[in-house]
Amino acid sequence: MARSAADWDRRPSLPSTHFIDPRIYSDVAIFKDEQEKIFAKTWVIACHESEVPEKYDFRTYTHPAGKNLIISRGEDMKIRAFYNVCPHRGNTVLYGPSGNGKHMVCIFHAFAFDTKGNCVDIPRQTAGYQDRVCKADMGLREVRTETAFGGMVYVNLDDGAGSVADFIGEALTDMSVALSSEPLEVFSYHKADVHTNYKLWHDTNSEFYHDYMHYHNRQTSMMQPGYFERKYTQYPNGHARVGDQTVNYEAYEGFKGRDLSFPGMSLNQWKMVDLFPGMTYNLRGSSLRIDTLIPLSPTHVQIEYRGLGLLRDTPEERAQRIDDYNSIWGPFGRNLHEDLLGVHGQGLAIGHGQGFVLHAREEDSTIHDEIGMRHFYAEWSAKLGRSSSDPYGEQPSDGNGSASGAQPHLAAAH
Ligand code: FES
Ligand SMILES: [Fe+2]
Repeated sequence: MARSAADWDRRPSLPSTHFIDPRIYSDVAIFKDEQEKIFAKTWVIACHESEVPEKYDFRTYTHPAGKNLIISRGEDMKIRAFYNVCPHRGNTVLYGPSGNGKHMVCIFHAFAFDTKGNCVDIPRQTAGYQDRVCKADMGLREVRTETAFGGMVYVNLDDGAGSVADFIGEALTDMSVALSSEPLEVFSYHKADVHTNYKLWHDTNSEFYHDYMHYHNRQTSMMQPGYFERKYTQYPNGHARVGDQTVNYEAYEGFKGRDLSFPGMSLNQWKMVDLFPGMTYNLRGSSLRIDTLIPLSPTHVQIEYRGLGLLRDTPEERAQRIDDYNSIWGPFGRNLHEDLLGVHGQGLAIGHGQGFVLHAREEDSTIHDEIGMRHFYAEWSAKLGRSSSDPYGEQPSDGNGSASGAQPHLAAAH
């Protein structure tokens, strides 16, 4: 039966952990809160070490907390990050997406900086500043950086945060042989600019019920042995792992099984880990896909996709990995653009009639259970001090640590 306006607006008869108030996808105040309480304090992936392979290489990066950063490899080959802001009068130091330079020179008044962030030249320093301003006081603002877990360059704006290893915990342990046995290299990069909330992309990576949208996945995974036994594992800090599957690529017409893999993985094996607050390691045997999110506003996100192989690949191996990657995840592949249609459609509805969003499937933590999303929003709610189903504290508590629906609970479907 179709629902009236009153029915539509009524809170679902579900535990408060099992649905989302859509205002968390559109409210500017909540977005500012996320930037301050989540993104400004957590580790996020800025790029991969192979994107700055030589000394003096740099690239610029828009940090999700709303800061512009420079990622740079020094003469000592160490990768560092800095605010892309001149300490003189606040000009942007570097404009291009990437490049190579021994010094970074601000175009405004020509203050110069080395790749360790030291100020190495102030034009006519003594004539104007006498001894009141010196180079030692004019370095760039350095940002904590660790290269880890497959050579990804993690940055954290919070100088007081724990290490990346503390943050990840055991979430990537099952993938560690594949990630850490030998150096990796990025072979593909593309970016999607989508008018939707960033969390909705991570949701898509955190649930597999939407495999109904993917004909390729239905044929090669859902209809194959083991699919419905895949289980989610939750880790501290909001991370979750999806159980492995061996994919039968040959079940999709025109495809063949993969000839290459990653260290420690069998052919056609699939591993996947979602990291809070919006990074995914997706390893389909021969190629690793890393998703990272750059939210620009509550309803605008840039999603970065990187494809990685082994640095030592022969040209033939690399060509095969690229082909495998593109067949699924390239712009004309059989999977990723369909996921983009999902979050694009959700984005169209944000603020235009979107009601409560359900995360209510319970199937013993198996593949169509929505526990991965619930785990994410439990962490999100704890970090923000707001319930994801009642972000403004308008409802009475239901004993789940957050507010409840106005109606008594019904048992969630099993
Ligand atoms: S603002 Fe950079 S040198 Fe003046
Ligand atoms: Fe998908």
